[in-house]
Amino acid sequence: MAALSKATIDDIDVHGKRVLLREDLNVPMRDGAITDDRRIREAMPTIEALRSRNARVIVVAHLGRPKGRIDDSARLGPIAARLSNLLGADVRLASDVVGDSAQSMVDSLRDGDVGMLENVRFEPGEEANDPEFARQLAAFGDVFVNDAFGTAHRAHASTEGVAHLLPAVAGKLMARELEMLGGVMDNPRTPVVAIVGGSKISTKVGVLDHLLDRVDVVWVGGAMACTFYRALGESTGTSLVEEEQVETARRLLESAHGRRADLRLPIDGVVVEKVAADAPTQVVAWKAIPDGWMVVDAGPETVQRIAADCAGAGTIIWNGPLGIYEIPAFAAGTRDVARAVAASKATTVIGGGDLAAAVQDAGVADKIGFISTGGGATIEFLEGRTLPGVAALRDREVARR
Ligand code: 3PG
Repeated sequence: MAALSKATIDDIDVHGKRVLLREDLNVPMRDGAITDDRRIREAMPTIEALRSRNARVIVVAHLGRPKGRIDDSARLGPIAARLSNLLGADVRLASDVVGDSAQSMVDSLRDGDVGMLENVRFEPGEEANDPEFARQLAAFGDVFVNDAFGTAHRAHASTEGVAHLLPAVAGKLMARELEMLGGVMDNPRTPVVAIVGGSKISTKVGVLDHLLDRVDVVWVGGAMACTFYRALGESTGTSLVEEEQVETARRLLESAHGRRADLRLPIDGVVVEKVAADAPTQVVAWKAIPDGWMVVDAGPETVQRIAADCAGAGTIIWNGPLGIYEIPAFAAGTRDVARAVAASKATTVIGGGDLAAAVQDAGVADKIGFISTGGGATIEFLEGRTLPGVAALRDREVARR
């Protein structure tokens, strides 16, 4: 675990204070119902800690990308209801973000109460990081707590702007994310094995580039391995290849020679002629995918080799699935690697988004050291970039003075 340089809720007095609390409660929904409430559950320790210290908690959150307009399908009602249910206490949801309803909700809070503003992205000032909108938000609080690691890569009014207007510290989830992800990047037990999957290399170039100097083995998985094989001049059938990234893949392969990590590509893959749950499959060498066939999962030899690396690892960092795991017939590679990661004695950190669900489906989520709640934020962290929502928080030294 890395020592945290940012101040947290443990460094400030919140008793009787109005705490503006940014959470990332952007959960997947289907037909108005929450399909995975992990982000809401992960927010609970901070909310409970603040309540138990008699703070008046004003939760600020977004859902989806309504782009500065009111969108009734992105209202926070279901999220406030779930929060209320988990807390066993009423959560008052304002019907606007900084209007009369929000003001009266804030005014009605007593010590230990929790209220919530409506979807902060209904306001155009949010994504624009408009100073006037940030000022309106800040007026609701005495202190600002940012617990929204998953949104910390966005320099928005509720993640960055407001942090300059109030004493700003990290919540418990934010602190844990920074400690765990920071720990595996800065002070890991070696050897460090990274597994980077997903369909598109374009979203992972920065991660691969950064990890090549910081870890010992980098496994590339998922359809993006096809772009690497294309760069090597091999046949990729009808698999997804990002033509405009082939040159980038070539550069990464070349540069890997002189760098710390050993860059490894999948050896075999499961291929189909069309993506359908009942499509006939075959296992082939990844570099020789037949014409008309596309790769949809890692093959058994690849899984076995990744598992062997995991067994000898001191630290494992995994981001991105190894196949189209949402279709059970193509989930074996991701599932079996999840089991190998879970079975290893390494410090294990899994980077958010899709993979959290995949690890859950594999039944091993509780055996993984840490599963990040971030998607894009985790990727930017693994790229070594500064997250604006984190940078704006007070340093611990300053807060303690
Ligand atoms: C996420 O789901 O990754 C975060 O909530 C950020 O959402 P965004 O990509 O819409 O900014």
